[in-house]
Amino acid sequence: MGAGIAEVVARGALPVVGIEINADALERGRGHLEKSTGRAVKRGKLTPDGQREILDRIELSTDFAALADCDLVIEAVPERIDLKRQVFARLDEVCRADAVLATNTSSLSVTEIAVATNRPTKIVGVHFFNPAPVMKLVEVITTVLAEPAAVAGVADLVTKLGKTPVTVGDRAGFVANRLLFGYLNQATAMLENGHATRDDIDVAMKAGGGLPMGPFTLMDLIGLDTCLGVLDAVYAESRDRRHAPSPLLRELVAAGLLGRKTGRGFHAYD
Ligand code: CAA
Repeated sequence: MGAGIAEVVARGALPVVGIEINADALERGRGHLEKSTGRAVKRGKLTPDGQREILDRIELSTDFAALADCDLVIEAVPERIDLKRQVFARLDEVCRADAVLATNTSSLSVTEIAVATNRPTKIVGVHFFNPAPVMKLVEVITTVLAEPAAVAGVADLVTKLGKTPVTVGDRAGFVANRLLFGYLNQATAMLENGHATRDDIDVAMKAGGGLPMGPFTLMDLIGLDTCLGVLDAVYAESRDRRHAPSPLLRELVAAGLLGRKTGRGFHAYD
């Protein structure tokens, strides 16, 4: 998600500083950026010069200090509240006092992240959808502490980047995931109960539901660990059984079969 978001901002002609945890992750991030923009060149949607300009706008570093002059930071570390809070405490130290710090969390509490800093009025959620360069929606999450100007400024930027913002409250799953994951979890339960096969459920929703992907292909794209994290968070808040993660999803995650990123999830990938 980090590379995808960096690409979206750089395509909007803004300079970006991309921070990764170590040199290997940085190289993987660079690879994602080159592959994604390279695909656009191959499809004739971007010239090689245009690709170079986008990539040149992105400075990559493993040093948080490189963020010192940024107006806005968008964090996209793994979905663990302790990790997010640590990262925000660190960002609070290195970033300008007037910088807005945003989290790309898909289900964690933005408020809990905000109170890990000394600037909770300047903490907002900015939730992109996968793949970030393609999907139009960005949820901008406000909290009881957030300054309206900070929230409006982020929504404005999202619009300038060619995306569609919706402003939502700080509730687990926000709007889109709260609605989407009841359906995805139900599909997993149907598979587990022998109601239909994986492929038949995928085909039914693609061909009959008018969706670009069936539920299992979509969960593999999102990452099964992320899916489980979203369901756990939404179920903890809603206590709605539709959100109680299916045992099959939990088993796949425990087995390390996380979808496309590990080469196997509900489907297998080369
Ligand atoms: N990165 C960048 N660009 C990508 C891409 C990627 N990973 N995958 C596809 N694209 C681009 C292609 O280059 C192509 O661009 P152009 O139209 O400009 O040529 C376009 O997307 C369509 O790609 P394809 O023709 O190769 O494939 P497709 O038509 O099957 O589309 C898809 C692929 C866009 C992923 C489509 O299947 C789709 O929209 N799937 C549903 C995705 C979705 O619902 N995402 C939300 C998940 S929920 C979430 O993310 C929230 C959360 O917190 C978990």
